[in-house]
Amino acid sequence: MQIHHTIASLRAALAGAGRIVFVPTMGNLHAGHIGLMAQARAHGDCVVASIFVNRLQFGPSEDFDKYPRTFRDDCAKLEAAGVDHLFAPDEGEMYPSPQTYHVDPAPAHVDMLDGAARPGHFRGVATVVLKLFSIVRPQVAVFGKKDYQQLMVIQNMVREFALAIDIVRGETARAEDGLALSSRNGYLSAGERAEAPRMYRQLARIRDAVQAGERDYLKLETEAVAELAAHGWQPDYVSIRRRADLQPPAHGETAALVVLAAARLGKTRLIDNLEI
Ligand code: PAJ
Repeated sequence: MQIHHTIASLRAALAGAGRIVFVPTMGNLHAGHIGLMAQARAHGDCVVASIFVNRLQFGPSEDFDKYPRTFRDDCAKLEAAGVDHLFAPDEGEMYPSPQTYHVDPAPAHVDMLDGAARPGHFRGVATVVLKLFSIVRPQVAVFGKKDYQQLMVIQNMVREFALAIDIVRGETARAEDGLALSSRNGYLSAGERAEAPRMYRQLARIRDAVQAGERDYLKLETEAVAELAAHGWQPDYVSIRRRADLQPPAHGETAALVVLAAARLGKTRLIDNLEI
């Protein structure tokens, strides 16, 4: 695997590389990220990963400074996963001067769910992803369903700007007890880690209930919020939405839904979702 810290070095190495498949990350890699690398391999000739903790997508009181940075371990994992090129710029390379042009996602897509809880977050994500796309110039890019709203924002950005990039949607990798793998799981205490799979169990309960014919979505959502709160969580939302635009479904609508949740456990904010 070749490691590039500059745009010039990456670009030179990718000239004539064939069909490029790109997997952007912020590092601290786990089996979920590595699963995306394996999927990427099936979609092209040359797999490019990136590691960049993007300040633009963190709010002023969020965990940018303490976001785990484990570069050497990450490199070993990417190498073992057969990644061809790693792009790992520092902030000076990505943002040599403060970024003054941004991609503003449609308010209807970000004034809800995680976007409502994290103002400006998806603007920072869309901006860095567009910039990474223009640096790497991939034909295909892989994103995980774990960050479902992020995936929707990226897919809409690609469509509205007519970017010639196919977006592949990766399944969420989970621990055996159901907890979705996340870099932020490392912040959990042992007690919190034992409690954490409750979110997944609530999502699975809702999915099963809808599949069994329950149509009172509000009741299902309210019960799940109460159950989490009763066990020490501070829930942001538990919400059944349409997969395509993440808007609330019409009454009784059952086609192509997803249930999403976000809640704080101690100091750690966890998100997860399940397609129904
Ligand atoms: P990061 O949180 O590092 O995630 C990188 C990619 O891994 C994203 O596409 C995310 O959805 C996916 N991912 C995370 N956990 C996963 C899991 N348990 N199973 C499957 N895929 C998983 O998402 C970002 O970084 C950033 O916002 C980024 C897109 C890199 C822009 O800065």
